[in-house]
Amino acid sequence: AKHAELIASLPKAELHLHIEGSFEPEMMMQIAERNRVEIPFKTLEEAKAAYNFSNLQEFLDLYYQGMNVLRTEQDFHDLTWAYLKRAKLDNVQHVEMFYDPQAHTGRGVAFGTVTEGILSALKQGEKELGISSMLIMSFLRHLSEEDGFALLEESKPWHDKFVGVGLDSSEVGHPPLKFERLFARCRELGFKLCLHAGEEGPPSYVREALLDIGADRIDHGNRSMEDAGLIEILRDTQTPLTNCPLSNLALCVIDDLKQSPLKAQLEAGFLVTVNSDDPAYFGGYINRNYEQISDALDLSAQQVVQLAKNSFTASFLPENKRSHFI
Ligand code: ADE
Ligand code: ZN
Repeated sequence: AKHAELIASLPKAELHLHIEGSFEPEMMMQIAERNRVEIPFKTLEEAKAAYNFSNLQEFLDLYYQGMNVLRTEQDFHDLTWAYLKRAKLDNVQHVEMFYDPQAHTGRGVAFGTVTEGILSALKQGEKELGISSMLIMSFLRHLSEEDGFALLEESKPWHDKFVGVGLDSSEVGHPPLKFERLFARCRELGFKLCLHAGEEGPPSYVREALLDIGADRIDHGNRSMEDAGLIEILRDTQTPLTNCPLSNLALCVIDDLKQSPLKAQLEAGFLVTVNSDDPAYFGGYINRNYEQISDALDLSAQQVVQLAKNSFTASFLPENKRSHFI
């Protein structure tokens, strides 16, 4: 890749990463064996062959199936630690990590088991790797708002451990306004609000997330580009967008990286960032996302630097820690 060395050298923040989406098939096979859980593939090749998606739902079906082998606090620690070690190689200095508690509590794994396993690895990552981190608890949008309120209640003892809450899973048919009361409550509690919107869903979902819910960040936001009024709002408010190039390609949100809206968004003055989403499933950690999108869109060195700076500007780090990177 043209800017590979530059990209590797730049400090980056990763703002859109689902920890369960960093579950590499090698580790999945190991943990399946240690927990004596059956998985539908026996070799790496079989796993990778299955990772051939034509839309978000096809991915989600395998994503929820894969995480079914995670049972113990140690499993969640090992998963998170493996991600942090990998992120370190890409010069990630700060991560704001999503996780999906309902995908675990729904199959009988306790909230505390999941959360404590992740938190202990994040703490170790700060100490041993120098990667700062924040955790974002995500609500599954295919479930009900009532289920979301139950999670909010169950998670109460850990509320000081989360910087924010998210909204992910199957987008179409589950607009942000389905969760209007839940997010109003989360806002009152002081959480940052990060909503997936405009990945597969229409620009009206981005409008709802931004204008009705008051989102602090929009995850993906690709389809915002279909709405001229929304383009103006995103530019004027400098609401961060977390773009995920290889995810968009793998989930057929775009047919080719050249169709990515990222360059147009940069040139429109959006606060847009590059992220890996679910790197174990989409074929690349953060540097590979930067490299592939830079090549496909012929980004300038200056634009690559801008993207890395944007990742800190768009983060929830306090101003004094952000400014060091900007
Ligand atoms: N959960 C994990 N990755 C996701 C994505 N890209 N969109 C929606 N939900 C997700
Ligand atoms: Zn995502």
